[in-house]
Amino acid sequence: MLSGVIEPRVRVEVLRDEADDRASLYDATFRGLHAEVKEVPAVWLYDERGSGLYEEITRLPEYYLPRREAEILRDRAAVIAKRAQARALVELGAGTAKNSRLLLDAIEAEGTLERFVPLDVSEQVLRASAQAIAAAYPRVFVHAIVGDFERHLGALPRNGRRLIAFLGSTIGNLYPDQRGRFLRTIASMLAPDEAFLVGVDLVKDVARLESAYNDSRGVTETFVRNVLTGLNRELGATFDQQRFVYEARWDPDHEWMDIGLRAGQAHSVSIPRLELDLAFEEGEPLRVEISTKFRREQFELEAARARLRVESWWTDSAGDFAVALVFRHASDDNPPRAVSFERRRRRTA
Ligand SMILES: C[S@@+](CC[C@H](N)C(=O)[O-])C[C@H]1O[C@@H](n2cnc3c(N)ncnc32)[C@H](O)[C@@H]1O
Repeated sequence: MLSGVIEPRVRVEVLRDEADDRASLYDATFRGLHAEVKEVPAVWLYDERGSGLYEEITRLPEYYLPRREAEILRDRAAVIAKRAQARALVELGAGTAKNSRLLLDAIEAEGTLERFVPLDVSEQVLRASAQAIAAAYPRVFVHAIVGDFERHLGALPRNGRRLIAFLGSTIGNLYPDQRGRFLRTIASMLAPDEAFLVGVDLVKDVARLESAYNDSRGVTETFVRNVLTGLNRELGATFDQQRFVYEARWDPDHEWMDIGLRAGQAHSVSIPRLELDLAFEEGEPLRVEISTKFRREQFELEAARARLRVESWWTDSAGDFAVALVFRHASDDNPPRAVSFERRRRRTA
């Protein structure tokens, strides 16, 4: 574990071990490429170039998510700060931490804020945002953590009441089983008076969903194609961009956006560092990311299964996006049954 102090009010802690990380990413990539639908782990999206492209995406007119989330936070941050009484705002997958500023402002106004703890896999972006937050909030100590929110939650500092935020609909990028594990870990690490705040994108008109990921300038396509560039660079792979077309489409069965590439023709790709020769059929997909869209009752049920209770659920004025304030279940009695949401969803569909 490495630590570094950049300036007195910023500490950057590196939880990732590079060799370890590389081994687990390579393993996950190998497994993904052998799945029924070939896929690469979405972490490949967030190299330095990818993180910059994601920032561009957040400014696209079609990509409504961050603006809807900001609208909710502008309206509700004071209530959240009052309820949370947090000394530390922890943010998982913080990126540039843009919407987090709305929370920092409110917690500071509430008079409880001491620390901001952003955690992200992308070290460069994290270091830059830690500096920017420290400069903008002179009374706040920034403890940035380079780490993985699926592996390092146990290492989050515990000195003082925390509000743990997971913004930007990043939870939608996790598959249901990953999401279940993630929520159970959150439940196990929350103290009874600590809150978890999560931003989720909602199921809506398919045309609007698909246009959010098929922007007219093609920035999202460049963001997704950058994964092939990364695989070629890091694994010595021979992916040829010309042989793939970009595709982001709504999957109504899973209620997620399926985002990736599709082979235009049958061909093979060699990936020497994984000792792999991969055959693609004509039209075969290569998934890069999913973005699950939620319904309130589904989210509440998933949270309840993880022993979490949704205390407040706020949406923006258009009903596009929601922010949920969540606490640990007070008791472990009567966990809800797994089947009921599926049944109810079919009934209401
Ligand atoms: C969809 S972006 C959201 C960024 C920011 N929260 C926002 O709302 O603008 C996802 C962020 O999570 C980070 N990330 C992705 N997978 C991660 C993981 N497994 N552990 C930690 N950070 C991760 C990415 O680097 C990126 O900054």
